[in-house]
Amino acid sequence: MSGNNGRSNNGFGNKKNRASGADQYANEGRYLSGNENDPILEIRHLAKSFGNNKVLTDVDFDVYKGDVISVIGASGSGKSTLLRCINLLETPTGGEIIYRGSNVLDRGVNAPKYRAHVGMVFQSFNLFSNMTVLENCVAGQVKVLKRSRNEAKQYALEYLDKVGMAPYIKAKPRQISGGQQQRVAIARALAMDPDLLLFDEPTSALDPETVGEVLTVMQNLAEDGMTMLVVTHEMSFARDVSNQVFFMHEGVIHESGRPAEIFSDPQREETKDFLARFRNN
Ligand SMILES: Nc1ncnc2c1ncn2[C@@H]1O[C@H](COP(=O)(O)OP(=O)(O)OP(=O)(O)O)[C@@H](O)[C@H]1O
Ligand SMILES: [Mg+2]
Repeated sequence: MSGNNGRSNNGFGNKKNRASGADQYANEGRYLSGNENDPILEIRHLAKSFGNNKVLTDVDFDVYKGDVISVIGASGSGKSTLLRCINLLETPTGGEIIYRGSNVLDRGVNAPKYRAHVGMVFQSFNLFSNMTVLENCVAGQVKVLKRSRNEAKQYALEYLDKVGMAPYIKAKPRQISGGQQQRVAIARALAMDPDLLLFDEPTSALDPETVGEVLTVMQNLAEDGMTMLVVTHEMSFARDVSNQVFFMHEGVIHESGRPAEIFSDPQREETKDFLARFRNN
């Protein structure tokens, strides 16, 4: 696996041209070579079964730097399983997950290190309840990236500031709102210098009044060039922020396209039904 290319890779805080993914998509381009333009992640024929339940059957896509991909689809269609496979929280039963040219399903891959590059933000935040906000953002850096505590603290403070949580560094998770906890979880993932961030319904567990603050942080990340794969029921985010939308149905990406195409002119019956049901809810 190629190493982390350093802080500048992160994108957050540096205005980056995030047209690369969109342009390649517009050109249907898979023709570029050289590191910068190679996909960050290549998913090939990914399959996952739980016993006889085939949850993912044949998932195939690429993620390029700067892509913001929204994954939508009905409950049970395999969205979380897809992200959990990519993050190595589940072991796929078939296919490949190629991160910067190396299959991460090969033996000997260091999962915690890989997860620093391909971070994940969960619906339920998953903060350590016994640690302060600051410590939550420091611990992984020290353990996995072997940063000194001082250095890790500087990174943590920088990203907590970006998500508006700097005033709360001494708080424990239970002392702050769900939206604030989720912003801390995002800062924690950012402090690991990820190449790509996975989000699994990051606003679904939130009180309605705190959804907006998390979506704003995510929109800022996208505008700053962070590469993101976002499972979401927030259709406004999918439509307005992402450059691609994947509609999952029965374990495959049943339809994909630019948001304007998917929302205004879906081609598959199941996509039409899903979006219609959504509008009626
Ligand atoms: N650990 C597991 N063991 C057994 N079955 C599982 C496991 N995880 C997921 N499944 C099954 O896989 C299927 C897809 O689940 P998944 O959580 O990926 O769906 P989803 O698209 O994320 O749905 P939702 O929108 O409700 O979050 C479901 O039938 C679920 O019961
Ligand atoms: Mg899910």
